[in-house]
Amino acid sequence: MSARAQRGAAQTAVPFDLKAYLTATTTRVNQALDRLLPKAGVKPGTIHRAMRYSLFAGGKRLRPALCLAAAEACGGDPGAALPLACAVECIHTYSLIHDDLPAMDNDDYRRGKLTNHKVFGEGIAILAGDALLTQAFELVAGCRDWPRYPHGVLVLDLARAAGSLRLIAGQVADLEAEGQRVSARQLRYIHECKTSALLACAVRLGGMSANCTPAQLQALTRFGHHVGLAFQIIDDILDVTQSSAQLGKTAGKDTAAQKATYPAIVGLERSRGIAARLTRQAFAALRGFGGRAAALHALAAFLLDREK
Ligand code: IPE
Ligand code: IPE
Ligand code: MG
Ligand code: MG
Ligand code: MG
Repeated sequence: MSARAQRGAAQTAVPFDLKAYLTATTTRVNQALDRLLPKAGVKPGTIHRAMRYSLFAGGKRLRPALCLAAAEACGGDPGAALPLACAVECIHTYSLIHDDLPAMDNDDYRRGKLTNHKVFGEGIAILAGDALLTQAFELVAGCRDWPRYPHGVLVLDLARAAGSLRLIAGQVADLEAEGQRVSARQLRYIHECKTSALLACAVRLGGMSANCTPAQLQALTRFGHHVGLAFQIIDDILDVTQSSAQLGKTAGKDTAAQKATYPAIVGLERSRGIAARLTRQAFAALRGFGGRAAALHALAAFLLDREK
């Protein structure tokens, strides 16, 4: 092992206080979202209250944390990544508001509270999702250029991740798979699209905000891809193993809706094994970053072991 790699390995081994890190990133992201989005009283008040209701309902803020951690891994200033982290969280929240609609997963609870359409009605919930999606692009469009990444590149990256070939493709395939026999290959496609694409985009945008090298961007993409796949498998497992109170959303819905999930196809134990293998692959993608990737490493480990 080279001296540099040894230093990196030693630094990665230093215990990382993820709880403190997540508290700090969540506070930062919440403050930025509050600053960047129209206040609840701005006309028309209903839509801004509805956007803020879901945005500040208590999500784990994992995608923004991954975005900021990716910036750090590339030696950047997480402050520069903050609007990008907020943009990703806006897209994520919009996707959840729409995911919960009666026409989709028909869920009554999200983030421990009634879903957006239960409080504001379906029309406003659809519009709150639309507005958050649009808001995300406004945030990225307002960013500066970086030498390797003019801000148009960042807009394009987010548009692709959220568009009909990725996140939307996954949601379409997820709906169409209900009640069907689905192959492991098709299920992986669903997870890659509906979850991994945005998660990988979060770390890519963080890296770009640090003007990362093309090799670093590739490594972050691999990391995000594997963490995203593991993340959705764990989400599917938790739906089976946890209570609604613990999750803040109704448990057992996937089985009831005959969703295509890893537990349904390969069982809980094999699903856990696959998620663990994907997380190891994610760790491997971080090798070149050394100790600066401590937060990314800790986040990936946490996502595998999370209980909600
Ligand atoms: C839930 O995501 C939707 C999936 C892609 C599985 P999270 O578990 O990150 O939800 P919040 O943001 O904490 O509510
Ligand atoms: C949601 O997947 C994925 C997106 C919203 C893009 P799920 O339908 O499994 O998420 P939960 O379980 O409702 O949070
Ligand atoms: Mg869904
Ligand atoms: Mg759902
Ligand atoms: Mg789920």
